[in-house]
Amino acid sequence: MLGVCGGIAAYKAVEVCRRLVDAGAHLAVVMTESAQRFVGPMTFSALASEPVATTLWDLGDPLAHTRLAARADCVVVAPATADFIARYAQGMAGDMLCATLLASTCPVVVCPAMHTGMWEHPATRDNIALLARRGVTIVDPGIGRLAGGDIGAGRLAEPEEIAATVRTLLAEGVRITGGHPSGDLAGHRVLVTAGGTREPIDPVRFIGNRSSGKQGHAIAAEAAARGAQVCLVTTANPAGMPPGMEVVGVETAADMADAVLGRLEDFDLVIMAAAVADFRPESALPAKHKKIEGPPEVSLVPTIDILAEIGVRRPAGQVVVGFAAETGVDRERVRAKMLAKGADLIVANDVSATGVGFGHDTNAVWILGTDGTDIEVPLTSKTKVAQAVLDAATRRLGRSQANS
Ligand code: CTP
Repeated sequence: MLGVCGGIAAYKAVEVCRRLVDAGAHLAVVMTESAQRFVGPMTFSALASEPVATTLWDLGDPLAHTRLAARADCVVVAPATADFIARYAQGMAGDMLCATLLASTCPVVVCPAMHTGMWEHPATRDNIALLARRGVTIVDPGIGRLAGGDIGAGRLAEPEEIAATVRTLLAEGVRITGGHPSGDLAGHRVLVTAGGTREPIDPVRFIGNRSSGKQGHAIAAEAAARGAQVCLVTTANPAGMPPGMEVVGVETAADMADAVLGRLEDFDLVIMAAAVADFRPESALPAKHKKIEGPPEVSLVPTIDILAEIGVRRPAGQVVVGFAAETGVDRERVRAKMLAKGADLIVANDVSATGVGFGHDTNAVWILGTDGTDIEVPLTSKTKVAQAVLDAATRRLGRSQANS
């Protein structure tokens, strides 16, 4: 089912509809009243070959919302406005879309689109976090030019990305479980790092990388859902993390090293999903470099290799998982990286492949271990990758603690 709300991005929902139909979906479309001010229902009904539902008050079918909910394998809402997100988060059911969602138990994908100010407002942040905790998949909006000319976060994600997310969820047959039933990490303390570090050149510029932090955040959320006490050290916005999770915000490799190495002993599982800069400017300029001064000369020096340092300092029984971002995965190179850094497991991804790694909601990885672990996880959601990583780490944890 495709839900369309009333925002200027409603016209892009036509493309989402077309892509889902082309991919073989049998699509029912529900439009809110305000959505119909932007696009006509006829457009969707022609593409989906189904009448579009727009009201709860259709005397011909007074139970359409429960019937739609029962039939849906997945509901995707694109665009999701701030108003819709607030109503859905509060469990309101005054219109066809919200009533259907409240009656449904299938996976839900929400694709927000709104002005940056509305997206960043604490009310919207809280509502999104609440939905994410309930198992709703959020396809974050992109950054770019918005209606009205402002530039910022709030553009509806690309229809291709939305359709790929739906395809992935359907392929997995995901159902909202409200946490891992086994609670197999209960009693464990897990440290996860996420995001790309930013190494300052001057007060406004930095050397960074394309890591979004999504994979590390998915691992932290999944570990918490399995009962672990989680500390997330991240450079990214931790919206959507469950309440009670300890979150340490950092910026540079040095900050991250302090946060991680300072309390390494507190954790029995450490997962270094962050993309840490290998080099930083030797010294950050104290004031903004002016264009008139010409190109700045930036001399780079190595940063601390946090994972390698963990490999040296780790307490007995601790399991250490590294990541390897590669352009073209060479398994022997990845294995050598794992051994050189003293990790037990390494999760390698080819960041040059389509839909994999940095910034995407999907990933494809190999999990290699010093114990012979060799698991390929083909292209899937970052949540599924998180589950596979934690499955491998939990097995290792069991053996490691039995031996120590
Ligand atoms: N890592 C780290 N500290 C660094 C660089 C990387 O802790 N200064 C960690 C990453 O968090 C990841 C692993 O090391 O878990 C591998 O990172 P990657 O960038 O793939 O490897 P590099 O050691 O940087 O090697 P290269 O860039 O040459 O592939």
